[in-house]
Amino acid sequence: MVARGRFITFEGTEGVGKSTQLKQAAMTLEQLGVDVVVTREPGGTPMAEKIRELLLAPREEAVHETTELLLMFAARAQHLHTKIRPALERGQWVLCDRFTDATFAYQGGGRGVSRARIALLEDLVQGDFRPDHVILLDAPVQTGMARAKKRGELDRFEQEDLAFFQRIRDAYLERATAMPGQYHIVNAELPLEQVSASVSALLTALVQHAR
Ligand code: TMP
Repeated sequence: MVARGRFITFEGTEGVGKSTQLKQAAMTLEQLGVDVVVTREPGGTPMAEKIRELLLAPREEAVHETTELLLMFAARAQHLHTKIRPALERGQWVLCDRFTDATFAYQGGGRGVSRARIALLEDLVQGDFRPDHVILLDAPVQTGMARAKKRGELDRFEQEDLAFFQRIRDAYLERATAMPGQYHIVNAELPLEQVSASVSALLTALVQHAR
Protein backbone atom coordinates (compact mmCIF):
# COMPACT_ATOMS: atom_id res chain seq x y z
CA MET A 1 0.00 0.00 0.00
CA VAL A 2 1.25 3.49 -0.86
CA ALA A 3 1.75 5.85 2.11
CA ARG A 4 -0.58 8.83 1.91
CA GLY A 5 1.12 12.06 0.82
CA ARG A 6 1.17 15.24 2.91
CA PHE A 7 -1.04 18.27 2.32
CA ILE A 8 0.91 21.49 2.88
CA THR A 9 -0.63 24.90 2.36
CA PHE A 10 0.99 28.32 1.97
CA GLU A 11 -0.82 31.30 3.43
CA GLY A 12 -0.31 35.01 3.98
CA THR A 13 -1.60 38.45 3.02
CA GLU A 14 -1.02 39.93 -0.46
CA GLY A 15 2.53 40.30 -1.77
CA VAL A 16 4.33 38.21 0.87
CA GLY A 17 6.06 36.14 -1.84
CA LYS A 18 3.92 32.99 -1.67
CA SER A 19 4.24 32.05 -5.35
CA THR A 20 8.02 32.37 -5.34
CA GLN A 21 8.32 30.34 -2.14
CA LEU A 22 5.96 27.69 -3.45
CA LYS A 23 8.08 27.14 -6.55
CA GLN A 24 11.23 26.88 -4.43
CA ALA A 25 9.47 24.52 -2.02
CA ALA A 26 8.44 22.21 -4.87
CA MET A 27 12.06 22.11 -6.08
CA THR A 28 13.29 21.28 -2.58
CA LEU A 29 10.84 18.40 -2.28
CA GLU A 30 11.66 17.07 -5.75
CA GLN A 31 15.36 17.09 -4.88
CA LEU A 32 14.48 14.96 -1.86
CA GLY A 33 12.76 12.47 -4.18
CA VAL A 34 9.19 13.44 -3.29
CA ASP A 35 6.50 13.34 -5.97
CA VAL A 36 4.91 16.81 -5.76
CA VAL A 37 1.70 18.43 -7.03
CA VAL A 38 1.54 22.23 -6.93
CA THR A 39 -1.89 23.79 -6.99
CA ARG A 40 -3.84 26.82 -5.76
CA GLU A 41 -7.11 28.13 -4.36
CA PRO A 42 -9.48 29.37 -5.42
CA GLY A 43 -8.80 27.26 -8.50
CA GLY A 44 -6.73 24.18 -9.25
CA THR A 45 -9.16 22.49 -11.68
CA PRO A 46 -10.69 23.93 -14.88
CA MET A 47 -14.08 24.48 -13.22
CA ALA A 48 -12.61 25.88 -9.99
CA GLU A 49 -10.44 28.24 -12.07
CA LYS A 50 -13.67 29.57 -13.65
CA ILE A 51 -15.02 30.22 -10.15
CA ARG A 52 -11.73 31.99 -9.34
CA GLU A 53 -12.28 34.31 -12.32
CA LEU A 54 -15.76 35.13 -11.00
CA LEU A 55 -14.37 35.84 -7.54
CA LEU A 56 -11.38 37.96 -8.50
CA ALA A 57 -12.78 40.12 -11.31
CA PRO A 58 -13.39 43.69 -10.17
CA ARG A 59 -17.09 44.46 -10.76
CA GLU A 60 -19.58 47.26 -10.15
CA GLU A 61 -22.15 44.94 -8.60
CA ALA A 62 -21.55 44.64 -4.84
CA VAL A 63 -20.70 41.03 -3.99
CA HIS A 64 -22.55 39.78 -0.93
CA GLU A 65 -20.28 38.14 1.66
CA THR A 66 -22.37 34.94 1.58
CA THR A 67 -22.02 34.70 -2.21
CA GLU A 68 -18.25 35.10 -1.87
CA LEU A 69 -18.10 32.52 0.91
CA LEU A 70 -20.15 29.92 -0.98
CA LEU A 71 -18.14 30.38 -4.18
CA MET A 72 -14.90 29.85 -2.25
CA PHE A 73 -16.26 26.59 -0.87
CA ALA A 74 -17.80 25.53 -4.20
CA ALA A 75 -14.39 25.86 -5.84
CA ARG A 76 -12.82 24.04 -2.87
CA ALA A 77 -15.23 21.10 -3.04
CA GLN A 78 -14.36 20.52 -6.70
CA HIS A 79 -10.63 20.96 -6.10
CA LEU A 80 -10.49 18.82 -2.96
CA HIS A 81 -12.51 15.87 -4.22
CA THR A 82 -11.24 15.68 -7.80
CA LYS A 83 -7.60 16.70 -7.42
CA ILE A 84 -6.18 17.03 -3.89
CA ARG A 85 -7.51 13.85 -2.27
CA PRO A 86 -6.76 11.57 -5.25
CA ALA A 87 -3.17 12.93 -5.38
CA LEU A 88 -2.65 12.34 -1.64
CA GLU A 89 -4.01 8.82 -1.96
CA ARG A 90 -1.50 8.14 -4.76
CA GLY A 91 1.22 9.12 -2.30
CA GLN A 92 1.95 12.54 -3.81
CA TRP A 93 2.64 15.56 -1.63
CA VAL A 94 0.33 18.46 -2.44
CA LEU A 95 1.57 22.03 -2.05
CA CYS A 96 -1.38 24.38 -2.21
CA ASP A 97 -1.30 28.16 -2.56
CA ARG A 98 -4.00 28.95 0.06
CA PHE A 99 -6.80 26.78 1.46
CA THR A 100 -9.48 27.10 4.15
CA ASP A 101 -7.26 29.12 6.49
CA ALA A 102 -7.55 31.86 3.85
CA THR A 103 -11.33 31.72 4.23
CA PHE A 104 -11.06 32.15 8.00
CA ALA A 105 -8.63 35.04 7.44
CA TYR A 106 -10.25 36.84 4.45
CA GLN A 107 -13.97 36.12 4.79
CA GLY A 108 -13.75 35.78 8.60
CA GLY A 109 -11.22 38.44 9.63
CA GLY A 110 -11.52 40.64 6.52
CA ARG A 111 -15.25 40.57 5.80
CA GLY A 112 -16.49 39.82 9.32
CA VAL A 113 -18.27 36.50 8.55
CA SER A 114 -18.64 34.52 11.78
CA ARG A 115 -16.10 31.74 12.38
CA ALA A 116 -18.97 29.39 13.23
CA ARG A 117 -20.55 29.87 9.80
CA ILE A 118 -17.24 29.18 8.06
CA ALA A 119 -16.65 26.12 10.25
CA LEU A 120 -20.07 24.79 9.20
CA LEU A 121 -19.11 24.90 5.52
CA GLU A 122 -15.66 23.55 6.31
CA ASP A 123 -17.28 20.47 7.87
CA LEU A 124 -19.77 20.12 5.00
CA VAL A 125 -17.14 20.29 2.25
CA GLN A 126 -14.17 18.70 3.97
CA GLY A 127 -15.48 16.45 6.72
CA ASP A 128 -12.45 16.09 9.00
CA PHE A 129 -9.94 16.81 6.20
CA ARG A 130 -7.46 19.55 7.24
CA PRO A 131 -3.98 20.57 6.02
CA ASP A 132 -1.16 18.59 7.60
CA HIS A 133 0.91 21.77 7.74
CA VAL A 134 0.22 25.45 7.11
CA ILE A 135 3.20 27.65 6.24
CA LEU A 136 2.26 31.22 7.10
CA LEU A 137 4.44 33.79 5.34
CA ASP A 138 4.05 36.76 7.60
CA ALA A 139 4.98 40.38 6.86
CA PRO A 140 3.56 43.81 7.69
CA VAL A 141 0.67 44.55 5.33
CA GLN A 142 2.29 47.75 4.02
CA THR A 143 5.28 45.78 2.70
CA GLY A 144 3.06 43.26 0.93
CA MET A 145 0.68 45.80 -0.59
CA ALA A 146 3.57 47.78 -2.05
CA ARG A 147 4.79 44.56 -3.75
CA ALA A 148 1.27 43.64 -4.96
CA LYS A 149 0.78 47.11 -6.49
CA LYS A 150 4.02 46.76 -8.47
CA ARG A 151 2.58 43.63 -10.15
CA GLY A 152 0.06 45.81 -12.03
CA GLU A 153 -3.76 45.59 -12.22
CA LEU A 154 -5.30 44.98 -8.80
CA ASP A 155 -7.96 42.26 -8.46
CA ARG A 156 -11.20 42.64 -6.43
CA PHE A 157 -9.44 41.70 -3.15
CA GLU A 158 -6.29 43.71 -3.75
CA GLN A 159 -8.45 46.82 -4.18
CA GLU A 160 -9.41 46.69 -0.48
CA ASP A 161 -7.80 49.09 2.02
CA LEU A 162 -4.95 48.47 4.48
CA ALA A 163 -7.35 48.02 7.41
CA PHE A 164 -8.91 45.02 5.60
CA PHE A 165 -5.47 43.40 5.19
CA GLN A 166 -4.51 44.22 8.75
CA ARG A 167 -7.58 42.30 9.98
CA ILE A 168 -6.56 39.41 7.73
CA ARG A 169 -3.01 39.35 9.07
CA ASP A 170 -4.36 39.47 12.64
CA ALA A 171 -6.75 36.58 11.90
CA TYR A 172 -3.92 34.45 10.46
CA LEU A 173 -1.69 35.15 13.47
CA GLU A 174 -4.54 34.36 15.84
CA ARG A 175 -5.10 30.97 14.15
CA ALA A 176 -1.37 30.27 14.13
CA THR A 177 -1.22 30.89 17.87
CA ALA A 178 -4.26 28.71 18.47
CA MET A 179 -2.85 25.81 16.38
CA PRO A 180 0.92 25.84 16.95
CA GLY A 181 1.32 22.18 15.90
CA GLN A 182 -0.14 22.77 12.45
CA TYR A 183 1.09 26.31 11.71
CA HIS A 184 4.66 27.33 10.92
CA ILE A 185 5.17 31.09 10.88
CA VAL A 186 7.95 32.28 8.58
CA ASN A 187 9.14 35.89 8.70
CA ALA A 188 8.57 36.99 5.08
CA GLU A 189 10.10 40.42 5.67
CA LEU A 190 13.59 38.90 5.53
CA PRO A 191 15.52 38.71 2.22
CA LEU A 192 14.11 36.13 -0.22
CA GLU A 193 17.03 33.68 0.18
CA GLN A 194 16.58 33.62 3.95
CA VAL A 195 12.84 32.98 3.64
CA SER A 196 13.53 30.16 1.13
CA ALA A 197 16.15 28.69 3.46
CA SER A 198 13.64 28.59 6.36
CA VAL A 199 10.94 26.98 4.21
CA SER A 200 13.42 24.49 2.79
CA ALA A 201 14.69 23.50 6.27
CA LEU A 202 11.14 23.01 7.42
CA LEU A 203 10.21 20.79 4.45
CA THR A 204 13.39 18.75 4.76
CA ALA A 205 12.52 18.03 8.40
CA LEU A 206 8.98 17.01 7.38
CA VAL A 207 10.29 14.59 4.73
CA GLN A 208 12.79 13.06 7.16
CA HIS A 209 10.04 12.68 9.73
CA ALA A 210 7.75 10.99 7.17
CA ARG A 211 10.39 8.33 6.24
P1 TMP B 1 -3.96 34.77 -4.57
O1 TMP B 1 -3.89 36.20 -5.00
O2 TMP B 1 -3.08 34.45 -3.42
O3 TMP B 1 -3.86 33.79 -5.69
O4 TMP B 1 -5.45 34.55 -3.97
C1 TMP B 1 -6.56 35.02 -4.59
C2 TMP B 1 -7.37 35.91 -3.69
O5 TMP B 1 -8.46 35.16 -3.13
C3 TMP B 1 -6.60 36.52 -2.54
O6 TMP B 1 -6.89 37.90 -2.51
C4 TMP B 1 -7.19 35.86 -1.33
C5 TMP B 1 -8.56 35.46 -1.75
N1 TMP B 1 -9.10 34.28 -1.05
C6 TMP B 1 -10.13 34.45 -0.14
O7 TMP B 1 -10.60 35.55 0.07
N2 TMP B 1 -10.63 33.34 0.49
C7 TMP B 1 -10.16 32.08 0.26
O8 TMP B 1 -10.65 31.11 0.85
C8 TMP B 1 -9.09 31.92 -0.69
C9 TMP B 1 -8.56 30.56 -0.99
C10 TMP B 1 -8.59 33.04 -1.32
